[in-house]
Formats: sequence, C-alpha cells, structure tokens
Amino acid sequence: MNIQKSQQSPEAAGVSRRHFLKAASVTAAGAAALNFPDVLADAKQPIRAIIIGLGGRGGGAGENFIEAVKNLGVDGKIVAVADLFPEQARRGQEAPFNLPADKCFSGFQAYKLALAVPEVNYAIIATPPGFRPGIYKGCIEAGKNVFMEKPVAADGPGARVMYATGEEATKKGLKVAAGTQRRHQADYIETIKRIHDGAIGDIVTLRAYWVNGGPIWHRGDHGDTALERQIRNWYHYIWLSGDHICEQHVHNLDVCNWIMKTHPVKAWGQGARQMLGDKSGEIWDNFAVEYEYPGGIHMFSYCGQITRKWSSVSEAVHGTKGWSNPNNTIMPTGGQPFRFRGNVINPYVQEHMDLINAIHNDTPLNETQNVTDSTLTAIMGREAAYSGAGVEWDQLLKSNFTYGPHIAYTDPSALVWEDYRTLKPPLPSLHDIFSNPPAVPTVG
Ligand SMILES: NC(=O)c1ccc[n+]([C@@H]2O[C@H](COP(=O)([O-])OP(=O)(O)OC[C@H]3O[C@@H](n4cnc5c(N)ncnc54)[C@H](O)[C@@H]3O)[C@@H](O)[C@H]2O)c1
Repeated sequence: MNIQKSQQSPEAAGVSRRHFLKAASVTAAGAAALNFPDVLADAKQPIRAIIIGLGGRGGGAGENFIEAVKNLGVDGKIVAVADLFPEQARRGQEAPFNLPADKCFSGFQAYKLALAVPEVNYAIIATPPGFRPGIYKGCIEAGKNVFMEKPVAADGPGARVMYATGEEATKKGLKVAAGTQRRHQADYIETIKRIHDGAIGDIVTLRAYWVNGGPIWHRGDHGDTALERQIRNWYHYIWLSGDHICEQHVHNLDVCNWIMKTHPVKAWGQGARQMLGDKSGEIWDNFAVEYEYPGGIHMFSYCGQITRKWSSVSEAVHGTKGWSNPNNTIMPTGGQPFRFRGNVINPYVQEHMDLINAIHNDTPLNETQNVTDSTLTAIMGREAAYSGAGVEWDQLLKSNFTYGPHIAYTDPSALVWEDYRTLKPPLPSLHDIFSNPPAVPTVG
C-alpha cells in the first residue's frame, strides 16, 4: 500500500506543528492576532499511536505509552494495532486498548494498513528483531515518530538499513526512541554522568553480564510452512532474533558503549548450544566474548540462558581511581562511595515520556545510531564465537551475508508464506559468513 504523503495533515505525517508554523508564511499582523499561549498549547499535537507486533512486549509497551500520556497530561491514545497473526491482532479489541475490529490488522501487510490510519503520528514497533529494519524503514517513509524495541538487526545488511533509515528520520525531523531503556533510567543516567565527569578516573576495563537461568522458552513447531514455524518460535532462528547475545545481552553491551561513548572495534570469543539439545532451532545459549575498544580498552562479556549456580544481569566498569556498578554505585579508591538514592520512574514509561516530550518540544531525539551500534556490537561478538576467528567492526559492517529473506529488510509487507531454509546450529570450524561463498550449512 502506498501512503499518499500529499494527502496527510502535518500531524498525520508526524511533522510537528512548530515545524509547520515555521514553514508556513505567517504575516506580522497574523502572528500578532494569534494568542501565543494558545499556540503553544496547540503545539502539543495529539499523539495517535499504533502498535506493530502485539505480543508480550507490544502489549506492555502499549500500557507504558498510556501511562506516559497520563503522567504528562497530554492527549494521546492507541488507535490501531498490527500483528502478523490474527489471534494476536485481536488482542487489540481487549482492555486497555478496546479498539474496534477494523483497527486490528493482521498479515504481512498489517503494519502498512495501521500506518495508513488517519492522524497516526507515533509507531511502537515490537515485532521480533528480524523485522525491525524493514518495518522501521516503512514507518520513517510514512513520516511517523517511532518507538522501537531492541535489538534492531541480525546482521550487517540489516544494520546498514537501520543507520540509513535513522539518518532519514533526522532529515525529516522525526523523533525516535529505542527500547534500550537504561538510557532513560534516572539512576543509570546520573551514575554514568559521574563516570564521564571523572569519578573513577580513566577507564581501564569493563564487564557485562546477562547470565540468566535457563533454558530459554521454546514454543514448539507450529505452522504449515517453515516460515510460519520459524516466526512463531522466532527466538530460535538467527535471522529473527540475532541469537541470545543480541536478543538480551544487547542491553548490557549498550551500557558499556554508552560509558565508552563509542563501540568496540574487535571481538573474539566462544560459546555453545548447551541446553537446547535436539530442540528445533539454530541458536546457541551461551557466549563469552572479549571486546576491544579504541585505545586498547577491553570489555569482557558473558551471557547465557543455561542453568548454573550464579546469575547476574549487570555491568561493571573499572578506572584508574575506582570502579562502578553503573546502575547506581560509584566506589572511588579511598573516597566516599556514591549510591543513587533519587526517584526512578519506570524506564519503560519514561522512554515514552521522553519521546512524547521531544515531539511536543521539537528537541533532538534519535536513538537509532546508539541502538544499532549496540546491536552490531552483539552481532560482532556472535560472529566471532560462531566462526572461531577474531572479527573486526568494519569487516562486519561491510559484510553482505543476510541471515533472513532479503525482502524482510526492503519490504516485509511483500513476504508470503513459503518454505525458508533452516541453518544447522553453528560449529566454529564449519560456520563463517565472511568466507566467499559464506559457509553456513543448512539442515537437510
Ligand atoms: N526492552 C526490553 O526490556 C524488552 C523486553 C521484552 C521484549 N523486548 C523486545 O520486544 C520484541 C518482541 O518480544 P516479545 O517478547 O514481545 O515477543 P512476542 O513473541 O511475545 O511478540 C512478538 C509479536 O510480533 C508479532 N509479529 C511477528 N512478525 C510480525 C510481523 N512481520 N508484523 C507484525 N507482527 C509480527 C508476533 O505475532 C507476536 O505477536 C523483541 O525484539 C524483544 O527483544 C524488549
């Protein structure tokens, strides 16, 4: 479906009223006749949101959006939902969304139908990550502000779509927030500001953990085609989830990149498929990766969904004058410890408050580059572990191997139900996306 931009109001196109007023020619007399406070109040354009991917997080993000609107006292509501599967889309008819059936779209084209609902100016994307680049591109082409969940790609080509689309969003004056919610969490923000201000001296090394109990959920194999079986059980397919290191550990890698104000340039590591056994799927369930940032600073990363006697979802950073748990604590060597004691608004709500404020005040907010850098950091670690070789950032960024159907990145609405290859779980001696041709053995 082609959305006719010329037929859209500035609000529907996601363009702020302030931009619109700037662009319109307003005479001095006309401007004087405007009641200025009313113009400002009016500048708070109503937020008309859609949810794309109404699963666990999509439903949760919708509720968080509703709470953000209430906290800010602004006019905002969910006006449509889109999900690939009809039974999921129908959840839009239930509380708290209570939408009519004709605003609950399903199928591969569902997101485009929801984007075309009049006055929509805010899209929440919570599909599996493999669809993020294509659907994000569709949202920005349609001129919408976006909240999108992490991670945002599964390979280099997907990351390139994200970077390019992020630039397009900035050019259009659209606002974009990502579901790396620690960047909207008051205790992390204050602690990392202190690290940046020198509270622990120069950074020497970092650690990142998503070491969780296991194994991860597995929904079984349901559907008439391989594509359907894969999407319904998306965590287990590399093109859809990016594997465990992308899917969950991206949060902790993002905190390290935030502290370092950049991304690593190299990675090498290892991992295994330990508890998934003979279950269908391609992914591993644990990784240990060493990353190198510019200047030779190393970050040690551990993640897994396997049973063990300890767990930790956290980060740590060590400096020349102390160390920090960047969530909320600074321990300077020989100095007074700092522990954040302030109020922390639920970051899942705060991220929508920040996005709505940026739209209403026309302040800069575009988190595409940060979340794509952090996703690519995870992909670099994964490919290092899969291949058994060291992997460099530029090599990955320029790589051409696409794990999923390429059309998922260009126009996922054009996908049809068909068979799609399943990969064998990677073995370092057999799996290498950088070789020519790429070595990625398939099942069967
Ligand atoms: N920020 C966080 O802390 C956090 C927490 C949980 C999940 N997430 C992220 O949210 C995303 C979704 O996770 P989830 O747990 O909700 O998964 P889920 O399986 O519960 O929901 C995904 C939904 O997307 C739908 N979908 C699949 N392909 C689609 C397509 N092409 N178009 C429209 N809908 C499609 C599915 O039918 C499903 O309803 C993931 O990227 C995950 O990492 C983030």
